[in-house]
Amino acid sequence: MYTGLKPGLVISKRNRKWGLGNGNKECGRAGHNIMNKVALITGITGQDGAYLAEFLLGKGYVVHGIKRRASQFNTQRIDHLYQDPHEKDLKFHLHYGDVTDSANLIRIIQEIQPLEIYNLAAMSHVKVSFDMPEYTANTDGLGALRILEAIRLLDLGDKTKYYQSSTSELFGKAREIPQTERTPFYPRSPYGVAKLYAHWITVNYREAYGLYACNGILFNHESPVRGETFVTRKITRAAVRIALGMQSKLFIGNLDVKRDWGHARDFVEAMWLILQQHEPEDFVIATGVSTSIRDFIKMAFEELGIIVEFKGESTKEVGIVANCQNSHYFLPKGKELVSVDPNYFRPIEIEELVGDASKAKSKLGWRPKYHLKSLIKEMITTDLALAMQELELAKSSK
Ligand code: NAP
Ligand code: GDD
Repeated sequence: MYTGLKPGLVISKRNRKWGLGNGNKECGRAGHNIMNKVALITGITGQDGAYLAEFLLGKGYVVHGIKRRASQFNTQRIDHLYQDPHEKDLKFHLHYGDVTDSANLIRIIQEIQPLEIYNLAAMSHVKVSFDMPEYTANTDGLGALRILEAIRLLDLGDKTKYYQSSTSELFGKAREIPQTERTPFYPRSPYGVAKLYAHWITVNYREAYGLYACNGILFNHESPVRGETFVTRKITRAAVRIALGMQSKLFIGNLDVKRDWGHARDFVEAMWLILQQHEPEDFVIATGVSTSIRDFIKMAFEELGIIVEFKGESTKEVGIVANCQNSHYFLPKGKELVSVDPNYFRPIEIEELVGDASKAKSKLGWRPKYHLKSLIKEMITTDLALAMQELELAKSSK
């Protein structure tokens, strides 16, 4: 487990190299107070960025994040962490930037000299990557290279640790079940292929230049702030809106595929643990339980007291109300709530992913605290509150 160093302790130049000369597995820059651990997060406005920023601030880090310039506010997930730049002793800083812009990355990294860099920035939607393969390669593949090169060019290799957001998508057409750190890769999308490059360039910089650079091979992880176009959030949002009469149906793609779903809160803790080891290594992070989209839909509706059953086959399969046990919702038996829409199919699919996180359990002491039911409960509760708020607003504006 992590132990902080004593306040005021400054590491001598001789002991600067990560993992050397201090039993606490921590590192510091010469002349800097070690308590001011500085972390840089790319992709801070995303799901994981928000959970990780909150987690690191809780550990006493000074957190810097890179956000993209957008024509509207894009910081909803981190607004609760925002600190007025006029305040003293700021712990949370945002910088405009983009992982497709090397000069911008070099300048930011040079300015803030982070001890830990978490590269979470990505075009992270697998289906969209088939529409934008070049942009995906540039951001998700070369983005990692640009940051690794910045660490090398700025001569920060002996003090800055690098975390790469690798993914279970690398296993793709999986060669074995469950997947471990030793399972061969076979990506099945432009996203997966771009992430494969990022994965191996991280290993390459570790081996060629001795950087503390690691891959977290994370399986799917979700939360109430998951993007609305990923399947879990699409389902939980639709379930509450159907229950409240705000939406008539959920249109969905492949119902048969299975994913290993965990909670983002558990998974960002694993990212941090990966950077606190003596030696840099890659780790699979997963719950070890895989569930089909069909069963996820049933569980989401069940959380609202609505029992859904499926009938029919292939694109004609539908989900209907078998029983509505919640008197607040008016859903008659037999009503169709779910239909298959082939527009949501992918050119090629990954049928099942399930991870074996034994290495993370034994070496990092990591274990997920959430299981799928508690994750779904939290997502449904939040989406229900948001939908009710929307209804109230609509009522009051009439
Ligand atoms: P997300 O919610 O889609 O967030 C992606 C973040 O990257 C956002 O902050 C986004 O900014 C930013 N971004 C996109 N393109 C960028 C660019 N060119 N330059 C700088 N920033 C850019 O994804 P997530 O679920 O938090 O995932 C975080 C990372 O883990 C990603 O690399 C993803 O591929 C990887 N991963 C995720 C999972 C999962 O199940 N969630 C599993 C394995 C690996 P905007 O807010 O401006 O769009
Ligand atoms: N998005 C979406 N929308 N997916 C659907 C739908 C739908 O209407 N219907 C079925 N699916 C299926 C997809 O075909 C896929 O097999 C599965 O649901 C999960 O899709 P997503 O939630 O979009 O996630 P993903 O598994 O493709 O990718 C996520 O997890 C990866 C880790 O394995 C992303 O977060 C990636 O960034 C991450 O690397």
